[in-house]
Amino acid sequence: MQAFSRVEALRAQLAAWRREGARIALVPTMGNLHEGHLELVRQAAREAERVVVSIFVNPTQFAPGEDFASYPRTPDADRQALAREGVDAVFLPVEAEVYPLGRAAATRVSIPALMDDLCGRSRPGHFEGVATVVLRLLNMVGPDVAVFGQKDYQQQLVIRHLVRDLNIPTRILVAPTSREDDGLARSSRNQYLEPAERAQAPALYAALRAVADGLAEGGRSPASLCAAAVATLRDAGFEPEYVELRDAATLAPADPARRPLVVLAAARLGRARLIDNLLIA
Ligand code: PAJ
Repeated sequence: MQAFSRVEALRAQLAAWRREGARIALVPTMGNLHEGHLELVRQAAREAERVVVSIFVNPTQFAPGEDFASYPRTPDADRQALAREGVDAVFLPVEAEVYPLGRAAATRVSIPALMDDLCGRSRPGHFEGVATVVLRLLNMVGPDVAVFGQKDYQQQLVIRHLVRDLNIPTRILVAPTSREDDGLARSSRNQYLEPAERAQAPALYAALRAVADGLAEGGRSPASLCAAAVATLRDAGFEPEYVELRDAATLAPADPARRPLVVLAAARLGRARLIDNLLIA
């Protein structure tokens, strides 16, 4: 596996691979890789002859007061894991490579229709930062396909919107959420949980399933099902931010008669802010 910190050297290698006829897949990450990331890498390898994984803890997507400084950084373990997966290149750009004019002068990408709702309400600027960095990574690598996780549901919608709206010639694939045996969605932020909190954490996914089951049974409104889930989470020691049932394609408020829907939740548990979602097809 080759490692690159400069886009120019990466592009030279990508051009050589392209001359051999290889398709290129990109998996953007912020590192501290877990099994969920590696499943994205495996999906990427099924789609393209060459797989590039980027690792960049993107400062512009952290709201003021969030965990940018303390976000877990484990580059050595990440590189070992990626080499074991047979990844062709890891791209670890320095900040000046991603934001060559500096952060203050950076061109920003804004998607008003999707950014300010749900997680955007408590994380001002977050999705603008995500869209801004993903556009840069797609421009730097020019992949045929890029793989993202369903775990970050609103994020993958922002990215699909960006790619479609700006006519970026990259196919976006979304891999299912990878979970621990007890249902907790894998996340780098799960390490912030104390043991007692970790034992409670699967209640988030259970609350989403309860909303889906209640909808299948019929008779209750989305608002009452989601309010019940919020109350259950509060009783389980969470500070819920939201539980919402939405149209899966647009995130518009759910018409309970239509499909696909998605139920999404965000809640704080101790030091961790956890998110999860469940598609209702
Ligand atoms: P990060 O949190 O490192 O996640 C990288 C990719 O892995 C994202 O597409 C995310 O949805 C996916 N992922 C994380 N946990 C997952 C799980 N349990 N199951 C399936 N996929 C999972 O998301 C980001 O980084 C950043 O916002 C990024 C897109 C890299 C832009 O900076």
